[in-house]
Amino acid sequence: MSSFENLRIVDNFYQTSLFFPMPTVIISTLCEDGTTNLGPYSLVQPYYVAGKDYYAMLLCCRNSSNTAQNILRTGKCALNFIDDKPKTFKEAVKLSWPGDKPSEKMPKCNFKLEKSLVEELDPSDKRPMVMTDAIEVIECTWMKELDGADKDVPGELNGYEGPYHDFNGITSKFGAHFILRVDKILMKKKYSDAIINGVRAKDFPALPVDYGYRDSKNFWFHRKTRMRAELLQMRQASLESVRYAADRADDKVKFTDEALMTVLGVPRVFLPLVLKGCVDWAKENNVNLITEEHMKIINDKRSKEKNKK
Ligand SMILES: Cc1cc2nc3c(=O)[nH]c(=O)nc-3n(C[C@H](O)[C@H](O)[C@H](O)COP(=O)(O)O)c2cc1C
Repeated sequence: MSSFENLRIVDNFYQTSLFFPMPTVIISTLCEDGTTNLGPYSLVQPYYVAGKDYYAMLLCCRNSSNTAQNILRTGKCALNFIDDKPKTFKEAVKLSWPGDKPSEKMPKCNFKLEKSLVEELDPSDKRPMVMTDAIEVIECTWMKELDGADKDVPGELNGYEGPYHDFNGITSKFGAHFILRVDKILMKKKYSDAIINGVRAKDFPALPVDYGYRDSKNFWFHRKTRMRAELLQMRQASLESVRYAADRADDKVKFTDEALMTVLGVPRVFLPLVLKGCVDWAKENNVNLITEEHMKIINDKRSKEKNKK
């Protein structure tokens, strides 16, 4: 017999039938008159994280919102991550009344705005402003070519007629999904230092965890609690098993034992990819026997490429 209750799955199941922890972001978008609109959102998450030509986030929202309409029109937005102070969350909830026009809610909004970094670097690339007090911001472009969504147009505030897209653009009568390319990540220095130098528990920013709108009354969230670190137990492969894979990686390029000792900690599933990267480097550099020194050069090159991104 199951130890669980079986809940009814209904509209907005993530907040009506579950306790689902979510981030809180304020999305800035460009209105027709060039001003910036702000709207609070939680259904945002990383979407393309590796292996594509770009990185992307996914936003799920009501298609008649100012945010959706502005994204359909301009393709640009910024995801501003706010802090967890109750005052900040209150200000966010103030921006959430469905149907409020930007001209009605923005004059009463106390969040400070500043120029987008993308626009600062290229003034011809018009972007919405970003929130000065955000901890971090992702500046984005909607990838409207995906799923044929480039034919979706703004202007329909009473529900779109089908046919609908599966995952990008207008996806139902009142719903939209936006795959948002990550153009720039902006972060306050204190936190970017932590990312670059390695985080300690106390370096994590105070971001709220949001549990959505419940009982047709309240938005529920909690503040940051103490961070804990859980050490991953590294599994070391044996030199023989790595040698077996290395000897089959290429018919000309070979590895010394000392070189292979540097990759004993690489999980088995990633080993062929890592070895292939080394072989490619060796071929580019006319090396037939990869040594420990070469592995250091390859690693340095990799971390430099990562930092450039
Ligand atoms: C904390 C919070 C999270 C929200 N998350 C979402 C969401 O993920 N998707 C959505 O469609 N609406 C969400 N809403 C409701 C929107 O904020 C609301 O539709 C609002 O009118 C949008 O503003 P806009 O029309 O200026 O874009 C959320 C509201 C709050 C307060």
